[in-house]
Amino acid sequence: MLQDLKIDRSLMEANSARNRLETEEQRIRLESRPRHGWLAITNECNHRCVHCSIGHVEYRNQKIVEMPMRVWERLETDLFPYMESVIFGGNNLGEQMAAACWDTYFDRLSRFALRPEFITNGDLFTEERIEKVVAKECVIRFSIEGATRETYEKIRGKRYDVVLGNIRKLQQEREKHPGNRTTLVFGVTIFRDNIEELPLMVDLAAELGVERLEVHHLHPSYPEHRYQSLVYHRTLCNQKLSEAKERASRTGIRFLGPAEFPVPPMVRVSTKPKPKDNYAMPDRCILAWSWVSINESGEVMPCCAMPLVMGNLNKQSFMGIWNNLRYRHLRKTVNSERPVGICQHCHDRFDEAGFEQSSRIDDFSLLQKIGLDDDMSMGKLGLSFKYAVRNYLRRTRGGARIVRFLSLIVRRFSL
Ligand SMILES: C[S@@+](CC[C@H](N)C(=O)[O-])C[C@H]1O[C@@H](n2cnc3c(N)ncnc32)[C@H](O)[C@@H]1O
Ligand code: SF4
Repeated sequence: MLQDLKIDRSLMEANSARNRLETEEQRIRLESRPRHGWLAITNECNHRCVHCSIGHVEYRNQKIVEMPMRVWERLETDLFPYMESVIFGGNNLGEQMAAACWDTYFDRLSRFALRPEFITNGDLFTEERIEKVVAKECVIRFSIEGATRETYEKIRGKRYDVVLGNIRKLQQEREKHPGNRTTLVFGVTIFRDNIEELPLMVDLAAELGVERLEVHHLHPSYPEHRYQSLVYHRTLCNQKLSEAKERASRTGIRFLGPAEFPVPPMVRVSTKPKPKDNYAMPDRCILAWSWVSINESGEVMPCCAMPLVMGNLNKQSFMGIWNNLRYRHLRKTVNSERPVGICQHCHDRFDEAGFEQSSRIDDFSLLQKIGLDDDMSMGKLGLSFKYAVRNYLRRTRGGARIVRFLSLIVRRFSL
C-alpha cells in the first residue's frame, strides 16, 4: 500500500532550499537540481482534438515512442529524489495515460516524496488508477474545452460522459479519505468556438468538486485556425473572462487565466503598427532554474513551450546537461534585454508557483506560430516562404546571428 511506504524527504528539502537561493540570485551554474518538471513517457494519443496539431497531416505518420527503462532509471537517480513535483504531460502532443508503461512508472514514482500531477484528457482512468492517484494525493488537470456535451464533443470527440464519470469517481474516492489532498483542476484552452461556455465551465467545475480553473489561449498552429484566436474576438473574450471570474469568486473556485485584451479607442492612424509595437518586455521567468521538461525520447528542454533540446539523457547525466553551455547561455540571457529564441516573445513566463504570468496579453506571442500578418495577398507559396524565413530568423541561433549581423551593419551605416 502506498500509505505504508516510508518516504525519505531529506534530499528534496535540502535541494529545495538550495534551489530557491540559486534562483533568487539568478546563478548561471547551479549546484541544485530543478524542483519541478514536465515529463512525457509517450507521444501516443487516443484523441484527435480539433485544436491540437496531433491530428494534422504532419503528425499522422509519426513513430510512437515510449520512454525506455534506462532513461527512467536515470531520472530515478538524478532527479526524482530531489524534486517537489512532476507533471505528467503538457510538454508534448500525447496522452500519458495511453502509455503501456504508465502503471509501472507511476508505481515506481510513488516511492519518492514528490507530488505527481497530470495534464490529461481524462478518459483512460480505471478503478485501480483512481485508487492509486488518490492514495498519492496527485493534482489532476482535466483538459476541458466545452461545458456542454455538444461543444465538448465537437472539439474532443465523443467522450463527454466517460470523462465526467471519471471526475465524479475521483471525487467520490477522495471523499472516502477525509483530509486527502488530491486536487482536481480544469485546464481550459479558449478560442472562438468555446469562449461563450467559459462561465458554464465554472458551474460545471463547482458541480463536480473541481477546485481550480486554469485558462489559457489557443496558439493557432496553422493559418486555418487563425480566426479561432481570441485576438480577433477581443470584446467577447473580455466579457466572458470577466463573467467567468465573477462566477468563480461566487462559487469559491480559484480562477487563473489570462489578462483581458486592451481594446484601444478608434484613432486616426497613418502607419501600420509594427510587431514591436505589440511587444512589451515580459516578467522575469524562473524556469531555467527551477523547472525542466523531459520527453519520451529522453530529451531535456527548458520548458513546455520551448522545443530547444539542451541534451539527451540517453547519452548524458542530468547534471552534465543542467550546467552545459546551452543552459548557461539561456540563464544569462532569458531575463536580459535580449532573450534568445522563443523566449523573446513568450508571454507565458512562469512564476515561482509555476503559473503562467499572463499579466499582459500580446498578439504577437499568441500568433507567433502563424505570424501576425493577415496579408493573404502573397498567396500560399509566398506566405509559407515568409513564415519559413521569419521562423528561421526568430527561432534559430543561426537566424539570431544573421539578425545581429544585419542590425550591426544598419547601425554602422546609419551613424
Ligand atoms: C497537448 S495536450 C497534452 C495532454 C493531454 N493529451 C490533454 O489533452 O490534456 C495539453 C494541453 O494543450 C492544449 N492544447 C492543444 N493544442 C493547443 C494549441 N494549439 N494551443 C493552446 N493549447 C493547446 C490542450 O487542450 C491540452 O489542455
Ligand atoms: S487529448 Fe491532448 S494530445 Fe490528444 S489530441 Fe487532444 S489535446 Fe492533443
